[in-house]
Amino acid sequence: MISSAPVAVSLSAGSCADARGYFPGAANSIYFDTASRGLVPGAAKAAIEEQVELRVQGTIEKTRMFETIDRVRHGYAGLIKAHPDEIAFTKNVSEGLNMAACAIPWRAGDNVILCPELEHPSNVYPWLHLKNRFGIEVRTLKARGGRMPVDDMIAAINDRTRVVTCSYVTFAPGLRTDIVRLAETCAERDVMLLVDGAQGIGILDIDMSRVPIAAMSVSTQKGLMALYGMGFLYVRKEWAERLDPPFLSRFSVDLGAAHEATGGGDNYALMPGARRFEVGNYNFLAATAVEPSLDILLKIGTPTIETHVLRLSERMIRGLQDLVLPVFAPEAGVHRGHIVAIGSAVGAQHDSTDDPIMQSLYKTLSDNGLRLTIRRGILRVSMHLYNNEDDVDGLLDIVRVWRTKQAA
Ligand SMILES: Cc1ncc(COP(=O)(O)O)c(C=O)c1O
Repeated sequence: MISSAPVAVSLSAGSCADARGYFPGAANSIYFDTASRGLVPGAAKAAIEEQVELRVQGTIEKTRMFETIDRVRHGYAGLIKAHPDEIAFTKNVSEGLNMAACAIPWRAGDNVILCPELEHPSNVYPWLHLKNRFGIEVRTLKARGGRMPVDDMIAAINDRTRVVTCSYVTFAPGLRTDIVRLAETCAERDVMLLVDGAQGIGILDIDMSRVPIAAMSVSTQKGLMALYGMGFLYVRKEWAERLDPPFLSRFSVDLGAAHEATGGGDNYALMPGARRFEVGNYNFLAATAVEPSLDILLKIGTPTIETHVLRLSERMIRGLQDLVLPVFAPEAGVHRGHIVAIGSAVGAQHDSTDDPIMQSLYKTLSDNGLRLTIRRGILRVSMHLYNNEDDVDGLLDIVRVWRTKQAA
């Protein structure tokens, strides 16, 4: 039997410092690579092993597995202040974005607005595909100083605009979008704002009861500190009911408490809200794995986590500037988040840089056991609740020694 309660973590509310101990990886290295994948708490391993053991023994109970799904659905909703019916389980960010994009009743000549140079390919190909299938117009805009060009996006909206789409935080150079302004304008203009929430969710606060985002796709491997192969698609109830799910199966259809194998008829009713996007059985293992992390995130709360990572970002940026290192877009404000980008320009290469000095710094940091990545030519340092001042100072110490050797 799967434990019917989350794998408990005993955490005093509001403390990122206490939570660090739940992540063995935080003790083993200076981990600044949440933007690739988050650290997973030790409790997730225990939960996974327990579930696999029950499958091995043949003693697992399906009702308990569905209870886990229900708790996780509530957890996702709680994290972003949404209603549980506004959450659909997905495989990853890419799937959720495609599901939402394909659920719109497109007509040739309708348009979508985006800034491809700041998007992960996951949020570019769905639109190119729809352009080829339905003749929609893909309106592309240039970034402004590495930032999402929110004003330009708003100016590009016309009466054929169905969707504006953007990342909440870009994967490179890692700046946060002024999402409130964009969401409010899109809501006023009855345009669907579809957000790629891969970066930032679980780390930076977002409150769907205040910010009128129409839909957002998230996966669990980064800020949610769990496995690959699971995510969720948030769709605001009013929007979900205007959309046509691209796939339909038993879980998309409302048959009350009837068994999952119960057949319906021609006159089926769709599940409320985003749940109409779900089809068959869930990734129960990944759901079990994300539960301890959700437990930690909800106990501490994203407002506290955001304050924590912003404090660390500030400390790192000031430290790097003191060492005369280029920090991309260092000023505070609405665009600052949990990612600090070292470098002065976003390049074309995915995971390396043409700048020999930056390449040397990256090698030195990696050789010293520090985990970070290069994305589009920039050194990307990404933080979460398990990072602390010692991590930041540890990076700065390595940079200081490297700097001295460079100068010699
Ligand atoms: C902004 C952004 N969107 C989408 C993705 C892809 O996510 P998934 O593999 O969950 O579809 C990533 C992964 O790095 C990302 O950073």
